[in-house]
Amino acid sequence: MAKVSFYSGQQLPLEMHKVRIIQKLTLLPIEERGRAIAAAGYNTFLLQNADVFLDMLTDSGVNAMSDQQQAAMLIADDAYAGSATYTRLYNKLVELFGMEYFLPAHQGRAAEHILSQSLVRPGTIVPMNYHFTTSKAHVTAVGGEVLELITEEGLQVTSDELFKGNFDVPALRALIADKGPERIAYVRIEAGTNLIGGQPLSLTNIRETTNVCREHGILSVLDASLLADNLHFNKTREPECSEMTIAEITRAIADCFDIIYFSARKLGFGRGGGICIRDEALYKQMRGLVPMYEGFLTYGGMSVREMEAITVGLDETMDEDMINQGPQFIEHMVAELDARGIPVITPAGGLGAHLDAGRFLPHVRQQEYPAGALASALYLASGVRGMERGTLSEQRDADGVEPLANMELVRLALPRRVFTLSQVNYAIDRIAWLYDHRDLIGGLRFIEEPEILRFFYGRLEPIGSWVDDLVDAFRRDLGDSL
Ligand code: F0G
Repeated sequence: MAKVSFYSGQQLPLEMHKVRIIQKLTLLPIEERGRAIAAAGYNTFLLQNADVFLDMLTDSGVNAMSDQQQAAMLIADDAYAGSATYTRLYNKLVELFGMEYFLPAHQGRAAEHILSQSLVRPGTIVPMNYHFTTSKAHVTAVGGEVLELITEEGLQVTSDELFKGNFDVPALRALIADKGPERIAYVRIEAGTNLIGGQPLSLTNIRETTNVCREHGILSVLDASLLADNLHFNKTREPECSEMTIAEITRAIADCFDIIYFSARKLGFGRGGGICIRDEALYKQMRGLVPMYEGFLTYGGMSVREMEAITVGLDETMDEDMINQGPQFIEHMVAELDARGIPVITPAGGLGAHLDAGRFLPHVRQQEYPAGALASALYLASGVRGMERGTLSEQRDADGVEPLANMELVRLALPRRVFTLSQVNYAIDRIAWLYDHRDLIGGLRFIEEPEILRFFYGRLEPIGSWVDDLVDAFRRDLGDSL
C-alpha cells in the first residue's frame, strides 16, 4: 500500500486486496433513522443492524476474512478432544509468540475472567497503561483495583507524539516503591490502547516496562487484542523496527512478557480468544477454569471453524500488506476531518477514527454525555453507527458517584477491509455537516441505567427538542437526500 505513489501527487490508501463477496446495505431516510434511534434508547448498541448504513460500532468480529481463511474453515476437525484444528492453532501461536502453553477461551473477556480469577485478590492492584471496559470490570469484580499509568501525552487529544499508548515507567517504579511488589497482581499492557484512540506503544517502552516487572518479580501481561495495528506502527514509526519483519517485531514484543492474551475477534480476524503462558506452574494454576467456564481444553468455547480461520488470520497478520489497510484508511479519515477543523484524536491510531466530543460539543456537560449525544446525532445525520467512549462507558462508583471520563470520544471503528474509500468519504461528509450544525445538538439523560457495563444496554432520552431540530436542518440543507 504505502509504496505506491500516484502520478497526480494525491496521497490515497490503495487496497492490496479485492472484494469477492458483498453484503447489500440500506440507508433509511432520516425520519426513519430518528424512529430507530429513539427505539434504541439513544444507545447505538441497541440499534438493529438492518437500520444501520455503515456499521462503525466496532472492529470486533466484523473484519473481512480472506479467501484463505474461508478455505481453512472447511478442513476444521470437529473432535471434542485433541482436535487437529487445535493443534494447528497451538503451533501457530508457539511459532509467533514462543510461549509453550495455551488456554483457549471463547473471546477476550473470557481470558480476562480466567486471569482475574486466578491472579487478582481483594486489595491487590493491577497497573495498566490504560483500562479497557471488560478488563477493568473483571479486576474490580474480584476486589482488585485498576491503576492507569499512561504517559502524559496519552491523554492529550491532539499531539505529535507517535506512541501515545506508552506506559509511564517512572510512575510504575514509584508505585512499586510505595505499595510493594507483592500488592501488584500483575502489570497489564494493552498494545494498542483501545479507549484512548487505538494509540500504540513503542517496543522500547514495552521493554522498559517489562524490565521493571522482571526486576521486582511482578508478572507482565500483554493484552494483544489490538496488536496488529501496534505492529504496523512499530514498523512505520520506530527506527529500531523499520528493518525488522513483522514476525520479528512480534517475537521481540512477546519475549518481554510472561503472559499474552487476546481477543481473536480482533487479532486473527476471527471470533475467539485465549491465553498464551510461558510458565508451566501458571498454566496449571489457570487451566481448571477453562473446562469449567469455557469448554474442553482443545476448543475453549470456540467453534473449530473459527479456530481454523484464526490460525490463518494470525499468519496473515505477519504480512504488512494485510495489516496496513486499517491504519491507512484511519489516517485518511483523520487527515480529512482534521483539515476541516473537526476535533479528532491525533495522530491517527489503530482501530478507528475518534471524534473528540468534548470539543465538538463544548456546550454539553459531561454529565449529559456529549459523546453519547454525538453518536446518536451522527446516526441520525448519516446512518453511520459509532460508539460512545466517554463518561457513559464508565462505571458508576459503589457510592453512586459518576466518574467523568478523561476523554469524551465517539469511536468510528473501521473494521479491516470492509468499507470502500467512498463510504469513508461519505461518513466524513456527514460529520462535516454535523459539525456545521453542532450548536443544535443537546445532551442525553438515562431513563434506564444498569449497574454493570451500563453502556451496553442502558436507555436514554434527549434533553430538549434537539433531535427534531436536527432533522429539520437536514431536510433544509440536503432536500430529499437519504
Ligand atoms: N481487550 C481489548 C483491548 C479489547 O479491545 C477488547 C474488546 C477486549 C479486550 C475484550 O475482548 O470483546 O473478545 O471479549 N473490544 C471490543 C471493542 C469489544 O469493540 O473494542 P472480547
